[in-house]
Amino acid sequence: MTNINDDIQRLPKIMNGTFDGDWSSIYSRNTEDLNRIVSHIDFRNKEIYSVLASSDILFYLYLNGAKRVDTFDINPLTYRYYYLRKWLLENGLLDARNLNIKEIEAIIKSHRNANDINERESCLLWQYYLDLRQKEKFYEERLFSFYSNALFEKCNTNFDFPYSEEDIKKLLNILNSNKLNFEVIDISSDSYNNSKKYDIVYLSNILDCKTANNVKIVMNNMKKLLKDSGIVVCTNMVNHPYFDLLSEQIKTFSECFEYETLDVELRGITKAPVKYYKYTKK
Ligand SMILES: C[S@@+](CC[C@H](N)C(=O)[O-])C[C@H]1O[C@@H](n2cnc3c(N)ncnc32)[C@H](O)[C@@H]1O
Repeated sequence: MTNINDDIQRLPKIMNGTFDGDWSSIYSRNTEDLNRIVSHIDFRNKEIYSVLASSDILFYLYLNGAKRVDTFDINPLTYRYYYLRKWLLENGLLDARNLNIKEIEAIIKSHRNANDINERESCLLWQYYLDLRQKEKFYEERLFSFYSNALFEKCNTNFDFPYSEEDIKKLLNILNSNKLNFEVIDISSDSYNNSKKYDIVYLSNILDCKTANNVKIVMNNMKKLLKDSGIVVCTNMVNHPYFDLLSEQIKTFSECFEYETLDVELRGITKAPVKYYKYTKK
């Protein structure tokens, strides 16, 4: 859960560049070849713990038969973005890329009297975001784009999500009957604790730039979080000038996990290729 007052205080700091902390931007859409992952991992009837990020992974897991997906992220605003994505889906949209300010404002405002307090609070945050945008120095309505660089990582990837109208209907049914379970956590913290056990944990580019000590802590957290033979699905940039610690990571995980590369095409939003792999608990 996140606290709306904290979220509202955090927002202008992120927008004006004074926020002190990592991972403050929100990924607007998925960065991964999720379509191909399903040919390697069976998500059907599985209990899954996944990073929330753009919400596409959560949507994808549910569309591919997951029984239950609980989510986490170090960035609390990903929770607010989840609600916005859900409202966009209700309007048949996958993101807010092509909306002008009046259109997105109408979608946000239509939830201000929602029954669910999380929806009402998320509505406050997004209305505040639009107000901040309109106060920007060179703001011009005709040039408006919802995804400001200050708050969002724009993800113009080639990984078009296979959403048909049917998928959107099915997804909304699932989302409406499974209230989002979300925690703000740092998965590399050694004080992390969770009594629930999962079949799969989905990490996405989280281990790329972690120190050896952090990787060891994540490995221990994964061990605690997974049922016997449970798996961690990971993606990692390789051949990147700063983030290429994969071989050390594999060594650390080998204490308690088997490593297996997934045969998924190597491409990503950065120029560095991305490796897809899984660790299975020994
Ligand atoms: C590269 S993005 C993943 C984008 C994702 N592929 C998608 O399609 O939405 C990584 C996400 O992990 C979160 N994150 C990074 N480090 C984390 C940590 N130590 N604990 C929890 N979440 C973390 C970030 O806030 C971000 O949302």
